[in-house]
Amino acid sequence: MADKLFIFDTTLRDGEQVPGCQLNTIEKIQVARALETLGVDVIEAGFPVSSPGDFNSVVEISKAVTWPTICALTRAVEKDIEVAADSLKYAKRGRIHTGIGTSYYHIKHKFNSTEEEILERAIAAVKYAKKFVEDVEFYCEDAGRTDNVYLARVVEAVIKAGATVVNIPDTTGYCLPSEYGEKIKFLMENVKGVHNAVLSTHCHNDLGMATANTIAGVLNGARQVEVTINGIGERAGNTALEEVVMILKSHQEMGIESNINTQKIFPTSRMISSLMNMPVQPNKAIVGRNAFAHSSGIHQDGVLKNRESYEIIDPKDVGIDDNAIVLTARSGRAALKHRLSILGVELSQEKLDMVYEEFLKLADRKKDINDDDVLMLAGKDRLDTQRIKLEYLQVTSGIGIKSVASICLNIAGEKFEAAASGNGPVDAAIKAVKQIVHRQMVIEEFLIQAINKGSDDMGKVHMQVQHEGLNYYGFSANTDIIAASIEAYIDAINKFVK
Ligand code: KIV
Ligand code: ZN
Repeated sequence: MADKLFIFDTTLRDGEQVPGCQLNTIEKIQVARALETLGVDVIEAGFPVSSPGDFNSVVEISKAVTWPTICALTRAVEKDIEVAADSLKYAKRGRIHTGIGTSYYHIKHKFNSTEEEILERAIAAVKYAKKFVEDVEFYCEDAGRTDNVYLARVVEAVIKAGATVVNIPDTTGYCLPSEYGEKIKFLMENVKGVHNAVLSTHCHNDLGMATANTIAGVLNGARQVEVTINGIGERAGNTALEEVVMILKSHQEMGIESNINTQKIFPTSRMISSLMNMPVQPNKAIVGRNAFAHSSGIHQDGVLKNRESYEIIDPKDVGIDDNAIVLTARSGRAALKHRLSILGVELSQEKLDMVYEEFLKLADRKKDINDDDVLMLAGKDRLDTQRIKLEYLQVTSGIGIKSVASICLNIAGEKFEAAASGNGPVDAAIKAVKQIVHRQMVIEEFLIQAINKGSDDMGKVHMQVQHEGLNYYGFSANTDIIAASIEAYIDAINKFVK
C-alpha cells in the first residue's frame, strides 16, 4: 500500500506575507474553502500574534472549514502561543506551529545566544503549547544551514517534549537537493524516537530548488510537505503544491500518495492568483498558461498522433478543461452563479446581482467570458469602497501626434478635473492624476498582461508605486488597457491616501 504524504498548505501564511498579496478575512475564508475542496490536510491560517486581522482570520477560517487541521504560527514565546491557542478555539482540529532559529546565523546574530539556551527554549515552547493543544508542530528555522548533529539534538528533544510534527525548513532556499535529502536521512537514522513524529519539509525557492529539495526530503522519509498554491511566498516563493502533487502522481513508483483531488488544481490556482493579484508566469509548471500549449509543428503533430508522445500529464487531470462552458451575453444569473461555484466562489444574492450587472457590461464588449474574467468580476467590488475613484478618462493618442488625457477623479465625493499631455496615453493620464493628487510617487513596476487571447480580451495591469520610501501595489483589469493602467495606478494610491 502506498504511504500517505500530508499536504500542509501555507498559502495563507507564508504566501500571504508577500507584499501586495494581502487578503481580507472574507477572501481568506474563500481560499480556505477552496483548499478544503482541493483536499489539503493542514491549512496554516496565519500568525495570530502579528495583528488583530491575522488573529481574526484564524478564528473565522477555523469556523468555516471542517476537515483540514487549522494551524497557527508562533515564535517560541509564551504570549504568541497563548494568542495562537485562543485563535484556534473554534477549530475542529487545531495545531500550534512554534519554533526558533537553530542555525549559527540565528543563534549568534539573531538571538546572541548559545546552542544550549536555544535547545531549552525549544523544549519549553513545545511543552507550553502542549498545555493548549495535542497537535504541536515545531520548526527549526534555517534548518537548511544548521549543523546536522545539533539539528538532530533539537529534533530529538522536541519530539520527547511532545512535538507531533517537526519541520525542517530550508528558510533561505540554500540547500542542494542531495544535501537536503541527506539531512532528512540523517535525522531519520540518528534521532531517537523519530517515528513518534512526522518530519516535514518547508523549502524556499531562492535558487529554484524548492520542489527538488522537497522531493529529496520525501524520498528520504519526510511525510509532510509545506507548500503553497502557485509556489507563492516570501522572495522567490515556497515549494508549489501542484508540482509536488503531480510528481507523486506521475511517479507512482515512489509509492507515495496524497489526498489531493488533482482536478481542482487549476481552478484553485486561478482563483488564488486572481484574489492575490499575483500573476502566474506563463511557463509555470502545471498551472502556467503555456504548460500544455504545444506550439512547434513537430510537437503538435506528435501530440495529435498520440498525446503521450509529448505530454506526461493529461491536462484534464489538473482540471484544465478545453470544453469548459464559456459564458456569453445570453447567459443568465444561474449560469454565472454555477460557474462561480465551480471556481469556489459563493456569493450572496446581493453581490451576485452586482457581479451579474458587471458581467453584462463586459459581455457587451467581449464575446466569450471565461473563468479568469468571471473571477476578476467577482473581486471588482473592492474598488467601490475606495476613497479615490476614476469618474472618467478621455485620451487622444496616435502616431505623429502628442498624447493628451483629460481625467476626472472623485475624491471622497468631490470631483476634480485635470488635463495633461505626455509621451503616450498612459503617461499623459498619469500626469493628469498627479496634478490632482499632489503626491511624490514613482512607478517601480508596470506589468500589462492579456488574460487570454483575442483583441477583445481583458488586460490585467499590476503596478508597484513607491511613495515616501514604501511600495504600494495596485491592480485592475479592463478591456481598455489605458483605463486598466490608470485604475491600477489609482488602486495603488488608495493604499496610502486614507
Ligand atoms: O521559512 C521558514 O523558516 C518559515 C518558518 C517560520 C516555518 O516560514
Ligand atoms: Zn517559510
